[in-house]
Amino acid sequence: MMFSKESIPFAPSLIESMRSLGYSFESAIADIVDNSISANANKIDIKVSLGNKPYVIIFDNGCGMNKSELEEAMRYGSKNPLEKRAETDLGRFGLGLKSASLSQCRKLIVVSKKDGQISCYSWDLDYIIKNASWSMIGYTNQEVKLFPEIEMFNDVETGTYVLLEQFDRIEESTNDLHKTLTNKIDSMINHLSLVFHRFLERKVEISVNNKKIDGRDPFLSYHKGTQIKRSQNVNINGFNIVVKPYILPHLNKLTLKDIEKVGSKESLRNEQGFYIYRNERLIIWGTWFRLERKDELSKLARVMVDIPSDLDYMWNIDIKKSSANLPDIIKRNLYNCVIEAVGGSEAVHTYRGRKTKSTDINHIWERIEVRDNCYEYRVNRDIPQLKILEASLNLKQIKYLNEVITQLEEGFPITSLYVDVAKGKVVEQSAEDEERIEELYTQVKEQVEYAKENGMDYKVIAKAFISTEPYCNYNNIINKIKGVYEIE
Ligand SMILES: Nc1ncnc2c1ncn2[C@@H]1O[C@H](COP(=O)(O)OP(=O)(O)OP(=O)(O)O)[C@@H](O)[C@H]1O
Ligand SMILES: [Mg+2]
Repeated sequence: MMFSKESIPFAPSLIESMRSLGYSFESAIADIVDNSISANANKIDIKVSLGNKPYVIIFDNGCGMNKSELEEAMRYGSKNPLEKRAETDLGRFGLGLKSASLSQCRKLIVVSKKDGQISCYSWDLDYIIKNASWSMIGYTNQEVKLFPEIEMFNDVETGTYVLLEQFDRIEESTNDLHKTLTNKIDSMINHLSLVFHRFLERKVEISVNNKKIDGRDPFLSYHKGTQIKRSQNVNINGFNIVVKPYILPHLNKLTLKDIEKVGSKESLRNEQGFYIYRNERLIIWGTWFRLERKDELSKLARVMVDIPSDLDYMWNIDIKKSSANLPDIIKRNLYNCVIEAVGGSEAVHTYRGRKTKSTDINHIWERIEVRDNCYEYRVNRDIPQLKILEASLNLKQIKYLNEVITQLEEGFPITSLYVDVAKGKVVEQSAEDEERIEELYTQVKEQVEYAKENGMDYKVIAKAFISTEPYCNYNNIINKIKGVYEIE
């Protein structure tokens, strides 16, 4: 007979493992701030104290919790990820408060005020280990009064106070808690000002040690040189995704302050691409998901993408809310917008009379201007993979190879590609998985070895490979080849 036997997780080990989800300090704090925003707070005070016993407090004037609500909130898995949430709720897993806090420290204390009552519970790793059970510590109002800066509650009717103490992880990894926490304050401010910029621009005030932080608008939409492209709606399973491309103004139209706003000159190059928001909170940014190359051509383009949390199930959002995989159907739909955005970005460069083609990458297809503003696409015959192939062929075979390539160029189905791209029907073909990357690496290696065996200048060839498509798209391949053939 089948029977049922309850198997309760062993608290000390499970909680210890949950600490290793991979939160950074700033992403942990952002996860706690998510809760404050979901609780409708419009004022969030973060206090970092570096004294004898360093602590971090996240205090908000949100809706607060009564005793039983707080008990529920403290429970691991307090809400089911499949449950439908309010449109403004940034939560999903019922884990963030606990897992984010305890990823950084050994003790989490939450005090909340609602209906004139103050309630307080704590998860303390040492207490859990001692009791070998899922036991929280509860505190009386008398005891709560002794917590640092608890008087912040005097000014609010409702609100929540999250206190983090005993930063063992940071201490272990750097041996200098004080210095590390000091540095982390800056990166935390940077992170919060970006991921919550849309809240900061409107209704929410976040301050760190009493200093208000400004929202960092990655689109510089206030700048009159920024081109805001037509926004488009993409309907996925009945829900609307809004896509809005921005072309940032040319670098030398930007003041130092503007550049600071987008991060740095470096970030202008590296953080182009999609900015994906879930309920207005930035989740992933600065990537084209391999739809477009990160090169000079598109460096000023950034595309705002708003996805409602109803579509969470489609994009494998992780507990930290810091990564997610967009499904192909959404990527395909974003493709149109990339073309529009990149097209505009290119225009900004051309207008300045600059060469639009980036010179440091060998593209397999070259765009060649045949007459004024008229282009032809041709296979680049200088790519190293063709050179190696030619080296292995006799003259007659080389002639045939060239004939075939010319026919491929002439037979290129421009019209149908154009129509398909416009309809968002072009399937992305670049390699995503490790197996394919490994395969590509083996290809380069084999070809360079061939060059070496046949007395060709293999170092020059290896160098050419790592700046040629598709190999140049993978840092892994580039680094391995550089290592193996000792090239710069
Ligand atoms: N600052 C707060 N104010 C009011 N309620 C809160 C606050 N922080 C947490 N809660 C309550 O506690 C619950 C649990 O929070 P927790 O962060 O652990 O999970 P979540 O936000 O539901 O989901 P996720 O794991 O995705 O963050 C929340 O759903 C909310 O009801
Ligand atoms: Mg949460």
